[in-house]
Amino acid sequence: MPHMTAFARNQWYVVAYSHEVGREELLGRTVLGEPLVLYRTEKEGTPVALHDRCVHRRYPLSASRLDGDRIVCGYHGFTYDTTGRCVSVPGQKRIPRTARVPSYPVVEQDSLVWVWIGDPELADPQTIPRARHLDSPGWVTVRGMEPIDADYGLLVDNLLDLSHETYLHGGYIGTPEVAATPITTEVDEAAGIVRVSRHMDDAECPPFYAKSTGIQGRITRWQDIEYHAPCLYLLHSRVAPVGVLPEADGSDPHGFHTEITYAITPSAPGKVYDFWAVSRDWATDDTEVTEFLRKSNHTVVMQDVDALNLLQKALSTEPAGYQELSINIDTGGLAARRILARLVEEGEKPGEKPEEKVR
Ligand code: FES
Ligand SMILES: [Fe+2]
Repeated sequence: MPHMTAFARNQWYVVAYSHEVGREELLGRTVLGEPLVLYRTEKEGTPVALHDRCVHRRYPLSASRLDGDRIVCGYHGFTYDTTGRCVSVPGQKRIPRTARVPSYPVVEQDSLVWVWIGDPELADPQTIPRARHLDSPGWVTVRGMEPIDADYGLLVDNLLDLSHETYLHGGYIGTPEVAATPITTEVDEAAGIVRVSRHMDDAECPPFYAKSTGIQGRITRWQDIEYHAPCLYLLHSRVAPVGVLPEADGSDPHGFHTEITYAITPSAPGKVYDFWAVSRDWATDDTEVTEFLRKSNHTVVMQDVDALNLLQKALSTEPAGYQELSINIDTGGLAARRILARLVEEGEKPGEKPEEKVR
């Protein structure tokens, strides 16, 4: 078995976008190896997450149907309420006391549905990192989700080192300056946050931004990454014509700010959900820009998906303990691995509260 990044339990993970969880269809997703079924209650519209296996013969509840707020198993009719308790079985009055499926703490915030995997007693919604731009007036977002057949650690590596844009995403978001410009890295170990910044003073404008913003000529381009381990990744992107800097008070009338969000959700060993979103507060009425960004970013994401599928296949044929060679560009990724290793360790201790996160 090649190296796989262990799962960090007692953490919040994005399981779905708000719009994916409804009442028409039960949504099945697997997070940290746990099969889940998601739906909304009829009156309040609150999202519910239950274990996706019926206690009777383990039929997936996600392939079943709703009766009000209850799931009726699609095989023999065991019926579960929103807490996972079985409230009806066919052909008899007595319901076995052990007839219940686990229910999971769920929080809906910033158009994301977060699920807590671990000891429910420890779930604290206050520790969920925010991505307000995904659900704020004045912002327009395009989004999607791609499953990848790769260790989630490979996606963390990928996103924390954007030098690959030059080689993997040339013609979309990559230009020579991305790989050529050194990064600065800041790590907040206690809070579990890694920041990686790359500020390009004079760079080619990649088609992704040239076509959407209308900027002609060279740009200053800033990429400021903020990774909240284990799941949420924010890339604050600024592009502006060369020489146009933000005002002394921090305002930036000539800069285009784009928030690029990823949620990295480990599904099963060697499988990860890649949630991606691009949000902007400029040209918000321009549907052509919206469709262009949707299409372009989907292409970029698929380039990563293909590369990671290929990389995982290659790694799977390597003997255990293979060597890597890291350089400066890997500083952020290596910091992220260290933090993930600590979160994994903390998640393995039963009944202990994970270290308070400072937000
Ligand atoms: S498997 Fe669900 S009722 Fe039989
Ligand atoms: Fe990429």
